[in-house]
This record gives sequence, structure tokens and C-alpha cells, in this order.
Amino acid sequence: MTIRAQVEKLLAQMTPVEKAGQLTQYFYFRLPEGAEPVLDFDADEQPKMVESKLQEGVTGSLLFVTDPAEINRLQRLAVEGNRLGIPVLFGFDVIHGLRTIFPVPIAMAASWDPETIEAGQVVAAREARAVGIHWSFAPMVDIARDPRWGRIVEGAGEDPFLGAVVAAAQVRGFQGPELGAPERIIAGPKHLAGYGYALGGRDYDEVNLSDSELWNVVFPPFVAALEAGAANVMTGYMDLNGIPATGNRWLFTEVLRETWGFDGFVVSDANAVRNLLTHGFAADLTDAGARAVNAGVDMEMTIADAAYAQLPAALDSGATDVATIDASVRRILEAKIRLGLFDAPYVDEDRARQVLADPAHRDVARVAAQRSAVLLRNEGDLLPLDAAALSSVAVIGPLADSARDIIGPWVFDFDLDETVTVLDGIRARTGDAIRVEYARGVPVVQREFPSLFDMFGWNKPSDPEGFDEDAEFQRAVEYAGAADVAVVVVGEWQNMIGEMASRSSLELPGRQLDLLQAVVATGTPVVLLVMNGRPLDLRWAAANVPAILDIWYPGTQGGAAAANLLFGDVSPGGKLPFTWPRTVGQVPMVHTHTRSHEPENQARRYWDEASTPLFPFGYGLSYSRFDYTDLTVDQPTTTTDGTVTVSVEVTNSGAREADEVVQLYLHQRYGTASRPVRELKGFRRVTLAAGESRTLSFPVGPDERRYWNAAVREWVTDASIFDVWIGGDSTAELSTTFEIT
Ligand code: NOJ
Repeated sequence: MTIRAQVEKLLAQMTPVEKAGQLTQYFYFRLPEGAEPVLDFDADEQPKMVESKLQEGVTGSLLFVTDPAEINRLQRLAVEGNRLGIPVLFGFDVIHGLRTIFPVPIAMAASWDPETIEAGQVVAAREARAVGIHWSFAPMVDIARDPRWGRIVEGAGEDPFLGAVVAAAQVRGFQGPELGAPERIIAGPKHLAGYGYALGGRDYDEVNLSDSELWNVVFPPFVAALEAGAANVMTGYMDLNGIPATGNRWLFTEVLRETWGFDGFVVSDANAVRNLLTHGFAADLTDAGARAVNAGVDMEMTIADAAYAQLPAALDSGATDVATIDASVRRILEAKIRLGLFDAPYVDEDRARQVLADPAHRDVARVAAQRSAVLLRNEGDLLPLDAAALSSVAVIGPLADSARDIIGPWVFDFDLDETVTVLDGIRARTGDAIRVEYARGVPVVQREFPSLFDMFGWNKPSDPEGFDEDAEFQRAVEYAGAADVAVVVVGEWQNMIGEMASRSSLELPGRQLDLLQAVVATGTPVVLLVMNGRPLDLRWAAANVPAILDIWYPGTQGGAAAANLLFGDVSPGGKLPFTWPRTVGQVPMVHTHTRSHEPENQARRYWDEASTPLFPFGYGLSYSRFDYTDLTVDQPTTTTDGTVTVSVEVTNSGAREADEVVQLYLHQRYGTASRPVRELKGFRRVTLAAGESRTLSFPVGPDERRYWNAAVREWVTDASIFDVWIGGDSTAELSTTFEIT
């Protein structure tokens, strides 16, 4: 029987209540003893409610279960309980790994390496599928231009071109060549659309986006994810230009389905259908359900009180129609059939254990962590450290030995025992040959308002028993003063970044800057490792600390990777996926601004601080040096549908093998709209041996030049003169031009 025939056969037997059930996804999780739920949710009753809905055949999907035995038990309730035997789809936030935790998404983006990114999500998919998860609520492809917004950590940063490449790589990793490929899961790019533009960086707040920004900046990563085959899309929580995204028919039907040709299924963000009431958009729950499904939202994700449970009533009243509901049910059933759930609804628990323990997964994670680190400063070539020349290292800072923090936010199924902290990594790398002393220096900092995730007890940072703040600070300074080199690890605790983790400041929380200053004052050379998912105010460090390496939240193998980087087993090659501001007062700040009055004063727009970034977009150093020469265009002139090829010779002129991310930027001099001073339109990460040269070529065709023009509400490709720069960051100087006639 064809898939279509299977779907139709089931659909013909389903009642309106069963159809509505297929379109409903419930959370299923248990809180640890004594936990105080932040969400409005009855921890005792909710799981019981879900179990009975499973048995009644009125639940299409569950989220948040990761234990294979639990998944089998719940699946059995559904398959054996409901008269049609329709299995449940298990979804989960597999954001940067399940058991093996990878660097956070912003870090993976900093690798500028689609292969590394894809490989990471292949492992994540393999682990997830092994435990019975069929679907990841990832990648988050929201462009983030305001680092106050905590979810900047989950995306690929500010740039639509980089964002599109990263989005596609993740989808390929999760889903593989087709839906239903073995050991792969559904990819769900989210949150359509504009969630990263929350006003003031305040999570969930409204978004007002220009037409030009929407089409040219926000949409491209979604389009790339869909072209890579993503079978699901998630809505966003916020109002977009005055209409709640989850009730936005233009977005989910006209743009997503009619313009982009999406034929997968759409899920709402958690409780977002009910939120149509909160927004002051829907009149009641039935109205909310009807308007979401009419807008094109196939499945409602909810904790309880599903609006979609009212869909039969909405059918009766004519607020929605059978064709709309059936179209959504078809999409869900089709996904379940393609994934093979009807043939094999259960997972092999023994095999799940084996897959989760696969040591090859840790190797992929370590390489990813190495490739995502960004070297921000290296005065006097302090790095790499020469292990043979050192007799002692002081490892300082509250994040230096925190297993929970090094794996970052948005993880639930990790294993802290196998997590390698920076201290662990340095100790393992140096062995007995070097004395390694460790001090935290400062206490943990608690959030003013608790994190959504603090309700899971393990998520909240805490000091060891009997922690004496002054003595600890003193000890840290003494260790640093007595050592040959001090490695200081600072940043944000992982519960300070992510969902519901927006910030009004970018400063290092607590007394970390005091600690850093005291350590530097000892005169011992200092290497600063930054653990972060957003740019932080590093103005003091950038002027006073010789070496700064951004390791982000590098994951399970993060400490091993950090040690390999510190001691030069590999050279850092990552580049910033966002513009790094000097201070929070500058945000939002991006490299793609346009030119206007007095461009010569662009760096002096504020009278109290330079209006240039601390580090530009695309920036990152290496232990080697790269020279760019012979920038050429194969033809000086072509027509609007023509493609020019831009080539450059890149030479590793240093003494060791290293990676460089070669970046191409484009600027249109005149046309039917003013275009950004520079836009990223090509890049490639290459490994070059010492002294090696390579010629790289990039096509610049109509796709690279076209843009959405808000005046004519259409894509245009202007005739113009174009400037092209190629180099190692967005301030590259080597340039040439070509003309489009
Ligand atoms: C809310 C978040 O916005 C979304 O990204 C996530 O997938 C769901 N919660 C489920 O955890």
C-alpha cells in the first residue's frame, strides 16, 4: 500500500475527536522530589492526564521523555490502547547533543564548518533515535542581533548567509538524505519568524520587523533549512508586526506553504496556541484552536488544556472545516509512516545503552569543540603554551572546574561523570610533569530572577560547602602569583543564557573581573578562557590580558579540547558569528549596516565610546598567519543574470599547520535600494600546512546579488558596480570590483 493510501485509510476511520488528538502534543516529564515548578503545571496530575489521553487515542505526540524504557511504556499505552493503533511521535529539544554534549549552537556556528556541524547532529540524531526520540525541535535558525537576548546561544548569530549554511548543515545531520533514514530524526527549524528580534532583547516580547529585514535577513536560514529537507517547522511565541506568530496565516500558509512549497508539518511553540488568548487575539480556547489551525499550525504543543481539544467544537460551529483538519492530520500520519513507526514503534533498550556509550561520539564532540574555539587575542604569541618549558600552571575561576557549566544550557540527558572540565583537561594533558593548582576565586552568582530550568534541581549553580569568599580570592591570587602561567576561566554560568535568560548588561557577572584584574596584577602571564554564549564586555581584558580564547560552552569534551588548544596540539580556527560590541549600550550592532550621512564619522556616533565593535564579525586569530594576494575577477563586466568568479591566493605564512576561514564580502554601490556596506556572500574553512598556498574561487551570481526590495515588494537584481573583499574577517582590506550592466 502506498503511503498516501495508508494515510487515507486511517483518516477515513477517525472521528473528529481522534483527529484533534493526533494534532495535540503533550509535555510528559516528572520533576525531581521537592522541585518547585516555575511553569503553571500540576506535577502530580499532568502525567496521569497524559497517560489517559494516550489510552483514549487522543494524543499525537509527546515531548520531553528521553528514557527508552519510559518511551516504550508510553508508546505501548498508545498503540495498544487506541483502536486504530496509531503510534506516538516522541519529540525533544535535541539542541546540541543528547548524551554526548556538543558545543552550544553559537559555538558550532563559530566553526564556520558545515561538515563539523553536520557531523555533530548526526551523532545527536543517532543517540536520540536510539532511545526512541523521533524528532528534534532544532535547529533554532533565528537570526540574533541583540546579545541581551539569551537565546542567541541557540542560533548561528547575526548573519543570514552564515545562518543559512549552518541551518542546512544541521538539517542534513539530523534528518539525513530523506525522512525515515535509519538513525536519523525529524529536524524542526524554529521559530518562524523573527523571535530573535524581541524588543530590548527581552525574551518573548514583541517583534517589529521591516519587510526588508524579514526577507533579506530573517527568512534565508529557514529557506535553507527547508531546501535541505526539514520536515517540521515550529512557530514563535511573540507578536510579529502586531500579529501573534502562532496565529499568522500569512506566515504559515502564504509564505511557508504557498511561496516556499513546504509540505511537512508545523508545530506550535509550547502553549503558544493557548497564548493567542494571552495576546488578546483569540476570544476563547475554541477560537484560539480554530485560528491556529486555520493559519497553518498543524500540531499544538501544550502542557495541558489543549486548545486543539476544542477543534471538534470549532468544526461544529464552522470556525474551521474538515478539509483544514484533515490536511493537518494527513501530514502527521505521513510523518509517522515515513519514520517507520507503524512497523517498529518500540526501541531496543540494550542497543540504546550501547549507542549512548559509543566512544566515537566523544571524539566527534572533542573535534567540534576544538574547531569552534575563537582566539581573540594573542599578544607576544603567549599561546600556544610550551609544556616543556613550564613547571607550574594556576587554573583559576569559578567555571574552570564546573562540569555542569562547561556543557552549557539546553541539555537534560548528559552525564557529568564523563564530562571533562578545563581543569581536568589541563591535568590530563600535562600529567605529572607540571604542577597544576586550582582555585575558584569567586563564588557563584545567582540570578536575580530564577531560570525556567532551575526547577530541575541540578541546574542551579552552587558553592561548595564552607566556601569562604575572601580566603578563596586570596588563594587564587597566590596560586597565580606563584605559577609560570595562569589560565583564568570566566564567563556566564550556564543558567544565565538560553531561554528566559535575557540580560540588561553584558558584564562578567559577580566579581570575576576583580579576580581577573588581581591575577593579572601578579605579573604572571595570563591566558583568559571565556565561557559564554553571547558577547560579554571584555574591554578591560582586551587591553590588558595578553591571550584570550573564546571556548564558549564546549560540551562533554570541552576541557580536553581546551587543553589541546592551549598546548598547541591544534591551532584555533574559529571565527566570530556575530559582531562583538564593546558595551551593551551599542547593541544591536551588526556588520551589515548601511551607509548614511557622514560615514567618515561612523566610528564616532556616540560621544562617550567608539561606535566600532570590540571584535568585528568574522574575526578570529590563529597560531599561524595568513596572507591574501592575487584577488581577481574572471570578467570585469557581466549582465544581471551573469556570474563572475572571484579568486584569491591564500598563504599560510606562519610556521605551523593551521586553519583559516576565507571570507568573501560584497557591496553594491548604487541601485534601487541602499545596500549594506558589506554582506557575507561566500566562505570556506581551509587547512594549510606551513608555507602552503592555495587559490580559492567563489561564484558571485544572481543569487548572491539579489535582495528583497521593500519598495517594489519583490526580489531584484540591480545593475551596479560591486566591491568585493576577501580576507579573514569582515574588515578585510584586499578588494576589487566588477560591474553588472
Ligand atoms: C519553548 C521553546 O521556545 C522552544 O524552542 C522549545 O522547543 C519548547 N519550549 C519545548 O521545549
